[in-house]
Amino acid sequence: MGDPVLATRSLSVRFGGLVAVDDVSLECRRGRLTGLIGPNGAGKTTFIDAVTGFLPNNSKGSVLLEGEEVFGRSPHVLSHAGLTRTWQTLELFDDITVRSNLDVASRRLTVGSALLDYLRPRQRAARVNEVLDLLNLGDIAERQPRELSQGQRKLVGVGRALVAESSKILLLDEPAAGLDKAETDWFGAQLRHLVDQGYTMVLVDHDMGLVLNVCDYIHMLVFGQLTASGTPDDMRNDPEVIAAYLGHSGVEP
Ligand SMILES: Nc1ncnc2c1ncn2[C@@H]1O[C@H](COP(=O)(O)OP(=O)(O)OP(=O)(O)O)[C@@H](O)[C@H]1O
Ligand SMILES: [Mg+2]
Repeated sequence: MGDPVLATRSLSVRFGGLVAVDDVSLECRRGRLTGLIGPNGAGKTTFIDAVTGFLPNNSKGSVLLEGEEVFGRSPHVLSHAGLTRTWQTLELFDDITVRSNLDVASRRLTVGSALLDYLRPRQRAARVNEVLDLLNLGDIAERQPRELSQGQRKLVGVGRALVAESSKILLLDEPAAGLDKAETDWFGAQLRHLVDQGYTMVLVDHDMGLVLNVCDYIHMLVFGQLTASGTPDDMRNDPEVIAAYLGHSGVEP
């Protein structure tokens, strides 16, 4: 097992009287795909929001990136430090090519770094090509997202997150939502390929089939609390997981 790239210690998020994330301590190890599951409203997105610095006034606890305390830092500082995320709703520019979608995402936001981008366009283009290759999107680089399958569109969304910064860990919030079974299987294989190339990722998803198939280790939240953690085999046999998911997606023990 690799060392933890990301760890939380007693991370909690409160919205008024509601404790959306309740004292969660977990680790996501290097070169692994860590799953985060749980029913609707369990706190999965809130957990990602808090870890990536979007809820400074609602959170408390500790977030360690490669062992360094980063709790309280702003989202852009964290993303620059390699804590990269995607959003639950996917936005692509439909009228420009896949390559341009990645290129736009690779431009940086501060004046200093934008100047650097301006001075080094070739480096940016090289990074875009690298990510296109990594995700096997080279063949469709000059096409527009509207011409692609839903699965390919989702993968372009992952690519946009990867080109933006040099990612130490990528947090994906329901990246396979809306895909049918065949597209989900294809998409899962692409995520697995990325992890096998050395990337570290966290996959939030409702689709237990996908999570059990592609993740190395899985955590489950219920009402904000970490109620189960383990390998896919452990989770298949965990009474808490069976209780939470029977009647949801009908996972069998
Ligand atoms: N900004 C907010 N203000 C108040 N309550 C919120 C806010 N964001 C989330 N919540 C509440 O926190 C709880 C956790 O929500 P969250 O969106 O994190 O769940 P989730 O596990 O991502 O659910 P889903 O699977 O539906 O995406 C829910 O009860 C939700 O209503
Ligand atoms: Mg969510």
